[in-house]
Amino acid sequence: MEAMWRLGSRAIAEHPPLDEDAEVDVAVIGAGITGLTAALALAEAGQRVMVLEAGTVGGGVTGGSTGNLYATLASGLAPLRRKWGDQMTADVVRARAEAIDHIEALVARHAIECDFRRQPAYRLVTGERQPTPHDLEDELDALVGVGLEAELADGPGLPFDSWGIRIARQAQFNPLHYVQGLAHGLLGEGVVIHQHAPVREIDAGKELVRTDGARVTAKHIVQATHTPKGISLVQAGMPVSREYAVGARLRGDDYPEGIIWVLDPFHSLRSYRHGDERYLLVVGEKHPTGEHRGDHYQQLREYLARHFDVAAFTHHWSAQQYSSPDGLPYIGRMHGRDNLYMATGFAADGLVWGTLAGRIIADQILGRVNPWQACFGARRITPGKSALQYARENATVTKHMVKDYLGTEKLDGFDGIAPGQARVATVEGEKLAIHRTEAGDLKVLSAVCPHMKCIVHWNASESTWDCPCHGSRFDTEGEVIEGPAFHPLARPEGHR
Ligand code: FES
Repeated sequence: MEAMWRLGSRAIAEHPPLDEDAEVDVAVIGAGITGLTAALALAEAGQRVMVLEAGTVGGGVTGGSTGNLYATLASGLAPLRRKWGDQMTADVVRARAEAIDHIEALVARHAIECDFRRQPAYRLVTGERQPTPHDLEDELDALVGVGLEAELADGPGLPFDSWGIRIARQAQFNPLHYVQGLAHGLLGEGVVIHQHAPVREIDAGKELVRTDGARVTAKHIVQATHTPKGISLVQAGMPVSREYAVGARLRGDDYPEGIIWVLDPFHSLRSYRHGDERYLLVVGEKHPTGEHRGDHYQQLREYLARHFDVAAFTHHWSAQQYSSPDGLPYIGRMHGRDNLYMATGFAADGLVWGTLAGRIIADQILGRVNPWQACFGARRITPGKSALQYARENATVTKHMVKDYLGTEKLDGFDGIAPGQARVATVEGEKLAIHRTEAGDLKVLSAVCPHMKCIVHWNASESTWDCPCHGSRFDTEGEVIEGPAFHPLARPEGHR
């Protein structure tokens, strides 16, 4: 089932498959919010830009997001202040507020119908009101300290007792309609957007990007792919997680308004109107990618049904998050190559970070000074703020390497795998990812992730093979859905 943002979405003109070599000033890989924000700024400045997208415009994590836009962070400002101090906390909020203003300006300039609206955000708890939990007091202090309009308040018309912090003048929109609007703006600038064109190789030294059908020569290469493709230093310290969303229609018209974060346990709620229909959306059930546990959608349905008068569940989808080890995103020129750019480590806050990243990268390419470039540089090294997370992540990768290589069950054949089931098993000495479709067809792939050789795990909620090490994900045919892997899961001899 697809995200509710697809309701009323506008198709982007399909270009013929890219089967001829091309030469441009800038190749932007990824047609999400980061890539298209950068591409638009570059095209408007006269650069020859080509956008290469593995799927469809906004079809990755942008179209799987909540559509919430906020200057703070979903994890709170107080933890950021403890790690980075007052000045950086204020810079983060100013940079993010400016990015939201930029989105609002682009919506107006390109007449993008994406339901952009200023809305308050709430951080809520549901327990006893007195005394105020220490964490909330700290958070309010951090928010007010950076000049945000924040105050203690009740939850906004929720059917359960809740209270906490209200932050005025944040925003919401339909993220897919927004990036489709950016794409139409780009088409108007003469930019070619190639959808269904996965990139298989990047060689920045040769200024080269290779797809299945063509070689694109580009002076600058922007990896707007949520995490850089291939092997990169930053992947060693970034936890990767997945979060799930469920949409529903309610009986009656009591839909809560605003960005609503209920903290105990964490659930994000918002409503959305499309035509005459209203919807309520809940997000939660976060877990490390590759460590799928139970039916996450069902848990969210039960949460909604417990608290609201649900008429029908209408949508469900999920999205991935990469969290940086020091709490700030990595944006801009990569190590060792002045013509190769990345944007990653957005955690749950990617729509605003992605917009900021698109602007910073465009400015770097155009030789303009961007005031936020130094704060979020992709080449920074912050051992004092990130060593612990690097150690944790490396321990996680090692744990999976050892456990998955040694602990895989041995199978003599595939008869024991029933329709709808999937297993990772060793068959004749080979680690295989085996899935039998509901129709009974057997799909056999190598279980070895082509990125750095970890073993993939089955995600039953999505019917995908997910790698627990750096978040590469593959469909049941083995094709890359997202993550750093360039290439599909291999098809072993005898199973092609
Ligand atoms: Fe890195 Fe799979 S994503 S080994």
